[in-house]
Amino acid sequence: MMDWTDTHCRVFHRQLAPHARLYTEMVHAHAVVRGDRVRLLGFDSSEHPVALQLGGHEPVELAAAARIGVEFGYDEINLNVGCPSDRVQSGRFGACLMREPVLVADCVAAMRAAVSVPVTVKCRIGVDEQDDYEDLHRFAETLVGAGLEVLVVHARKAWLHGLSPKENREVPPLNYPRVVRLKQEFPQLTIVVNGGIVDADAAKSHLQNVDGVMIGRAAYHDPYVLARCEHALCGTPLPLRDDVLRMLEPYIAAQLRRGEVLHHIVRHVLGLYLGEPGARAFRRHLSEHMRVPGADFRTVEAALACMREHGQARAA
Ligand SMILES: Cc1cc2nc3c(=O)[nH]c(=O)nc-3n(C[C@H](O)[C@H](O)[C@H](O)COP(=O)(O)O)c2cc1C
Repeated sequence: MMDWTDTHCRVFHRQLAPHARLYTEMVHAHAVVRGDRVRLLGFDSSEHPVALQLGGHEPVELAAAARIGVEFGYDEINLNVGCPSDRVQSGRFGACLMREPVLVADCVAAMRAAVSVPVTVKCRIGVDEQDDYEDLHRFAETLVGAGLEVLVVHARKAWLHGLSPKENREVPPLNYPRVVRLKQEFPQLTIVVNGGIVDADAAKSHLQNVDGVMIGRAAYHDPYVLARCEHALCGTPLPLRDDVLRMLEPYIAAQLRRGEVLHHIVRHVLGLYLGEPGARAFRRHLSEHMRVPGADFRTVEAALACMREHGQARAA
């Protein structure tokens, strides 16, 4: 998720969900080909399996970017056909491409020819007035014709004019039955549903109808949801939150030695204790102290101590 997630976030999420497939935020193919690749694509080996999400609409450029992504070690290349922002539309990528299934199919075919890892697409159920089931069916059919095997569907349409990206994640209603129908009509296509899934029960229930679930905002705001899903779906014992933090300690120390600053890493863990006694004290202490020059893991330990104190006070 652009501006929210990054490699540090995925290292943290991996501790919570060893079997989840993690996705990068969208990176434009042009930036991958022409920009600072190490900064844009560098990731930690613990993130595997991890997919690189690309934006773009030019088959040759996307193929080159996909190749570079695979050279960096990504396990999957995903094409974004779901982002509705103005900037993205003016660059003719993201959700507006749902109007151009043949072009998307050409992009998929070019990327598939360039790499041997899976090439997947993430889309909406529709855009603007192009939002009946037949349009979605035609879109999927065109991509399947280009060899697409996995489609992630955010189960709401996007309005390309008049709504902000944030509103486009909230205002158009979710329509899960449409995604289920797509699965029924393309049984050979792996369909992953996304949008509004906030807990393990919901994830489990969706999996009766489709092949996978993708969790966005809930995983960021309440990361322990990932551990609950991992537990419910794979049987992995629930980890203690404190242990998850301790597992990050060597990573944090190594990153700080390389010149990274603490808050870039631990801003992602602020919601780890959500709903637990003292969670607000943990969050407050960490957010107030994580930017102090020279802050290191001791700041996390102090936040934990603060949380215990407040949690106990509340329990008393
Ligand atoms: C801040 C933010 C940035 C996002 N960036 C991306 C992105 O780069 N690529 C993408 O496919 N979806 C992006 N999304 C959309 C989410 O992946 C997801 O499709 C959407 O939030 C609905 O799922 P959810 O209800 O589980 O959050 C972003 C969402 C947010 C909140």
